[in-house]
Amino acid sequence: MIVPGSASQALSAALAAETGRSLATPEYHWFPDGEERAAVPDFAGDEAVVVATTDSNDAFVELLQLQDAVREAGADRVTTVLPYMGYARQDRAFEAGQPVSARAVARAVSTGTDRVVLVTPHEADVAEFFDVPVDVLDASPLLAEALPADLTEPLFLGPDESAESLAVAVRDAYGAGETDFFEKERDYDTGEVTVTPSDAAVAGRDVVVVDDIIATGSTMSEAVAALHERDCDAVYTACVHGMLAANARTKLAAAGVERVVASDTIERAASAVSVAPLVADAL
Ligand code: R5P
Repeated sequence: MIVPGSASQALSAALAAETGRSLATPEYHWFPDGEERAAVPDFAGDEAVVVATTDSNDAFVELLQLQDAVREAGADRVTTVLPYMGYARQDRAFEAGQPVSARAVARAVSTGTDRVVLVTPHEADVAEFFDVPVDVLDASPLLAEALPADLTEPLFLGPDESAESLAVAVRDAYGAGETDFFEKERDYDTGEVTVTPSDAAVAGRDVVVVDDIIATGSTMSEAVAALHERDCDAVYTACVHGMLAANARTKLAAAGVERVVASDTIERAASAVSVAPLVADAL
């Protein structure tokens, strides 16, 4: 059975339809003290695929409970799909005394599963933190499906160098256009982002800025604003994980974005493409 975490209900239903597996109906009960009990009363079978985006601390604890609940209900094999793995960006101790949070959560998740499937983690190396086999999937090419087919001289741009490979993947899937990247600096204390545009000619062109995640929207809104200062035509933003926390969507609108495209690894209004077929293939 496919067993949905509460933040991955639409994706789980799509995955059940895609694979022909049945869909469990967990009950997520919240106690007055803030604790949750996630139960799977209708679980049947010997294999569970728990699909749980961990975009909050609560979602992590819920995932651990779902893994435990299906074992209690008789599952002898558990696969855990993390459409979005929270804490993956803290994949090393950047300053003395800091945790490697990605390793800590990976170890915890590993205790309740036989296998993990990750979708476009911030760095693929995060797979090494798990104590069970991990499949790393990249959903970025799917984003091309949600872009207009008639972009003008499209330029696919990473807002920093590490995102250039994602821009290339989307360009390749789109089938036309050039790629480039900006330089980005983030003030570690304030979170403020500064982008330095490249020399790429953007005037009169449609630009697609591609990243793995839009979280606060600072990176993307700075990139979008810098592009408009240089007279590009429309600017689209495309990301796998549309966290769009707090006022991110408004910041993007204020910067002049034409459209925000994301997948359903985090279920939002911007989730224009589904990773269900990609995950179904891996299963
Ligand atoms: C960082 O390296 C990531 O790839 C994203 O660029 C970053 O996490 C986006 O965060 P925000 O939307 O808060 O700027």
